[in-house]
Amino acid sequence: MRVLAIESSCDETGIAIYDSEQGLLSHALYSQIEMHAIYGGVVPELASRDHIRKAIPLIKQVMAEANTTSDDLDGIAYTSGPGLAGALLVGACLARSLAWSWDIPALAVHHMEGHLLAPLLEDPAPEFPFVALLVSGGHTQLVDVQGIGQYEVLGESIDDAAGEAFDKTAKMMDLPYPGGPHISKLAEKGTEGRFKFPRPMTDRPGLDFSFSGLKTFARNTITQCREESGLTEQDKADIALAFEQAAVDTLVIKCRRALKETGRKRLVIAGGVSANRYLRERLQQELKKLDGEVFYPRPEFCTDNGAMIAYAGCQRLMAGQRDGEEIVVHPRWPM
Ligand code: KG4
Ligand code: ZN
Repeated sequence: MRVLAIESSCDETGIAIYDSEQGLLSHALYSQIEMHAIYGGVVPELASRDHIRKAIPLIKQVMAEANTTSDDLDGIAYTSGPGLAGALLVGACLARSLAWSWDIPALAVHHMEGHLLAPLLEDPAPEFPFVALLVSGGHTQLVDVQGIGQYEVLGESIDDAAGEAFDKTAKMMDLPYPGGPHISKLAEKGTEGRFKFPRPMTDRPGLDFSFSGLKTFARNTITQCREESGLTEQDKADIALAFEQAAVDTLVIKCRRALKETGRKRLVIAGGVSANRYLRERLQQELKKLDGEVFYPRPEFCTDNGAMIAYAGCQRLMAGQRDGEEIVVHPRWPM
């Protein structure tokens, strides 16, 4: 089975073709980050317009690279949610229109299922079952994954997502959007132990997260430094380090707890924040102690991309998923 996919849930247009026999045949990504950066965050209307401009040229490019015509395709997958309504509608309309004219099925895919399955594009791929930590700009979730479509959410953030906390803390220090990678880079120059940030919700049982308190703690520390010394570059680096350590520590503690509760030995991390080097190192150490293994996507498939939607769509098609012809998107869509 061969599936073309369109990802357009936020600020990246991702197109890919996945073949169940040959694997990933081609993929392309256009990031709108530069366009949104001057506004300090994603502007939904601009995102939708840019998806319209970029999607068809990228589809043509990816089909040519994969030496694929419409006759070779068995389905078109698209991200149906969660995400920005207008941006999702661009992908949904395009996928449904192409599928209708090429007389093949279109498949609605959950964006977080895409992230969750992204490590299965790698070699070695994790075997089921596993626990997945999904950490992106919009979500922080721990999920017990028994197989394709068999997901049990074990815990999630009750307020901000981890990536959101990285982005908001970065913005308070006038770092560019998206802030995660910038915080991480600054943290390399930070002074160990100068600030100690809290590890929210780790002192009570359960697998839910909360990141808004961490953000407030960062705001107070930044204000204090501004008043005392005008917020120097070293202050910023020290805050970045303390923030990153607290956020990562919190995620690691909850992953350890989830593995213990489920008895799983395999952990998958996916979503934009899974690109964080310190998080990867810490989880690798942790899983080694537990005699387990940690899996993550290659860096380009940690953040939004079409390949993960093509993979998830192909699995769904093979499992017999068939949707109606109506164009439906789910800006909010629990997994
Ligand atoms: O999965 P993604 O591309 O989009 C969403 O579905 O949200 O994730 C984007 C998020 C942003 O919040 C970004 O700051 C964060 O991932 N991120 C990072 C790193 N790279 C991206 N956060 C921490 N460290 C990184 N290296
Ligand atoms: Zn995402």
